Amino acid sequence: MLSPEKNRALTQVGAGTPMGELMRRHWHPIAGIDALEKEPVKPVRLLSEDLVLYRDKSGSYGLLHRHCAHRGADLSYGFVEAHGLRCHYHGWQFNAAGRCIEQPFEDTLNPEPRQPCKLHLQAAYPVRPKAGLLWAYLGPLPAPELPDWEAFGWSNGFVQAVFSEVPCNWLQAQENSIDPVHFEWMHANWSRRLRGFDGGYAARHLQLDFEAFEHGFIYKRISEDTSAQHPLWTIGRVCLWPNGFFLGDHFEWRVPVDDETTLNVTWSFIRVPQEREPFVQASIPTWVSPIRDAQTGRWITSHVINQDIVAWVGQGRVADRSRENLGASDRGIAMLRRQLFDDIDAVAAGRDPKGVLREPASNSRVFLPSDSRDFFIKGLPLAEYQRHPKWARLLRHFIFHAGQPEAVQRAQEAATGVAVQPLEMLDL
Ligand code: FES
Ligand SMILES: [Fe+2]
Repeated sequence: MLSPEKNRALTQVGAGTPMGELMRRHWHPIAGIDALEKEPVKPVRLLSEDLVLYRDKSGSYGLLHRHCAHRGADLSYGFVEAHGLRCHYHGWQFNAAGRCIEQPFEDTLNPEPRQPCKLHLQAAYPVRPKAGLLWAYLGPLPAPELPDWEAFGWSNGFVQAVFSEVPCNWLQAQENSIDPVHFEWMHANWSRRLRGFDGGYAARHLQLDFEAFEHGFIYKRISEDTSAQHPLWTIGRVCLWPNGFFLGDHFEWRVPVDDETTLNVTWSFIRVPQEREPFVQASIPTWVSPIRDAQTGRWITSHVINQDIVAWVGQGRVADRSRENLGASDRGIAMLRRQLFDDIDAVAAGRDPKGVLREPASNSRVFLPSDSRDFFIKGLPLAEYQRHPKWARLLRHFIFHAGQPEAVQRAQEAATGVAVQPLEMLDL
């Protein structure tokens, strides 16, 4: 349980709020590289700021305040030039630092101005491409390292990234990243009922453990069908700091759009069978997954992260943590909140919070524990892959999000050589 005041401290993300300042010490994925190749200007809302993301004709990225420094027109309707973005209203042009570099009519009247224009947009932030995604940093400079996780460099896999805009606060989503018991109920048992199966329950959780490490927390579990030798106990899963999740085969980030909206970003790696090696992916497709059924208006419940989303939004736009009753399964959630408060204090004291990487030399292929690592690195022959109790499912279906576009499905099939079957309802 948290007081309303403490709940606000963890959930409000605007500039100047405790969590807003903490989130401004980390990089956040905000769009797919491929999206900007198709449409070079994109409106973005991030940490309660209205911004515009662009890729100019020279291939450089910028993330600028949404409104023009002249008379406030919406720069997401601007157009790109060789260097920077031009406002569609009177043609003023801005570079990636937010500085006005051209005022066409003024420049005509004064062809030789004594000094360059000093006007700046209210905000301009660094953007970097990595792993098929564009990442933004809204905090004080110098920016920390953009984490280079080892999985980003795995070869022989088909990678896709999926965006879902979820109408609730980011912390509801992130608390799901350190909540092992929900897997048994929300994914295993609920999916059984949704499929019409009423003959018993999935294996129960027997033991949990949570430990802090440099890049977040690791949670471990033993269930009725596993033992202390199982990788879910010996290796576990990573609640990636401060707003990510690494499950060994995919990442999720819970990017705060504003206090009541979260952009969930999933990065998935599907290993190709050994017979398809070497596979080199030319470009990483990204797509937007629906979360609501267009016909019924109800939340979609057929895929793993869609099911998670139903829980997050069910807690309200901003969960009222003064009314919750934490149980034995919530030990990790208490640890996560304590660490966030410690991080808020660190930022207020002018120190780096947990998870910020400053050393370029140690930011190369950074290792994270993964129960899938051996399989992803070595792979399996197709026949064995198709018999595997866990991996066969990933080869056949895209289980994480509803609505995989056909073009992505085809690209996945071309990579793996295996037909993707649309998933009606999760079967775990
Ligand atoms: S409002 Fe942008 S150039 Fe005039
Ligand atoms: Fe889940």
